[in-house]
Amino acid sequence: MNALAGKHIVLGLSGGVACYKSAELARLLVKAGATVQVVMTEAAAQFITPVTMQALTGRSVYTSQWDAREGNNMAHINLSRAADAILIAPCSADFIARLVQGRADELLSLLCLARPLQQVPLLLAPAMNREMWAHPATQRNLAQVAQDGARVLGVGCGEQACGETGDGRMLEPGEIMEELAAFFTPQRLAGQRVLITAGPTFEAIDPVRGITNLSSGKMGFAIARAARAAGAEVTLVAGPVHLPTPRGVRRIDVRSARNMLAAVEGQAPEATIFIATAAVADWRPAHSAEHKIKKDGSGMPPPLAFVENPDILAQVAASERARAGALYCVGFAAESEHLLAHASAKRVRKGVPLLVGNIGPATFGQDDNALLLIDDQGHRELPRASKDELARQLVAEIAARCPPAPPR
Ligand code: C5P
Repeated sequence: MNALAGKHIVLGLSGGVACYKSAELARLLVKAGATVQVVMTEAAAQFITPVTMQALTGRSVYTSQWDAREGNNMAHINLSRAADAILIAPCSADFIARLVQGRADELLSLLCLARPLQQVPLLLAPAMNREMWAHPATQRNLAQVAQDGARVLGVGCGEQACGETGDGRMLEPGEIMEELAAFFTPQRLAGQRVLITAGPTFEAIDPVRGITNLSSGKMGFAIARAARAAGAEVTLVAGPVHLPTPRGVRRIDVRSARNMLAAVEGQAPEATIFIATAAVADWRPAHSAEHKIKKDGSGMPPPLAFVENPDILAQVAASERARAGALYCVGFAAESEHLLAHASAKRVRKGVPLLVGNIGPATFGQDDNALLLIDDQGHRELPRASKDELARQLVAEIAARCPPAPPR
């Protein structure tokens, strides 16, 4: 189950062009299994209609504190008591100022004020022009609402509807979803620094050719996302893949196995957990030609000799920190048959406490997978599910096995 399934979210919209993104946000929340109750200010209804938001959430929208639909005529009490969280997106500069003052003259600020502080979290996704964002009044108000218990999500930087460029755009719906999911995720990896390798490597034959494999990087990226949501600081060393960087994750792009090894060696001394999901090419051409190899008319292909690549996982697992228990190493094995036998042997050969097996050809590029976890106690299956779901389960399994996070 993802962290948002079954949650009841009051989605508040205050006035701003970013209201158009809230339609997509509502859709994503519903898709994740949350129920969404939209509440809009009068200003928000100038930008997007309640009809759109009702159609997307399947619930009629509240816009007034005088809404007579509620039996007790207390929409502010009923809505705020039923919520697992209140999310204001977009949250305008004016709305932040209203929260600071504890205003209660329209439904949305009224229900924020009326929410039980200890039980119902309030998350704000600000959206405004860059000058408004940078203004000392806004920054002062943001600091105050945070001190009063609200969780202020960041803002994006870039082109704004007004034509100016800078900070203050509302986060994209997908980014807000990641923030919200992380908010509801148990912080099992808080304080851990997780280093992950993902994707294939590319081994050059000449400047335009090379050998690689069909790894998409999806599993490694899903694990990076899940580890970050669980509170870890995450560094992702990625081979050539076409995937967006998960929010809050530091990404280092590499090409070859040797590039990947160098990046990992640079980061491993800081890490407390190393998860090697990358499908590193086992061999590389012994020589990479400086210029494109030309056909010479003889009908003979050029002779290609290969040398073995360094085994990144085995090398890290043999390091002093790993052997001393300061760096918990997790390996992956993509096999085409006899998964348990091959993966168990690989765990011993690589010298890692936990090895995760999967059937390679069946999973490369797919959105779902099935995993077999092997440690010194035996093995356990994680049945077929989406890679995101499996990543969340795997993070919980790793958290249960690895040493506690070192003190800062
Ligand atoms: O030996 P094999 O490639 O099957 O091992 C798979 C595991 O070892 C994966 O965790 C993979 O990321 C890691 N590996 C590595 N460096 C290599 C080969 C594999 O880190 N050169």
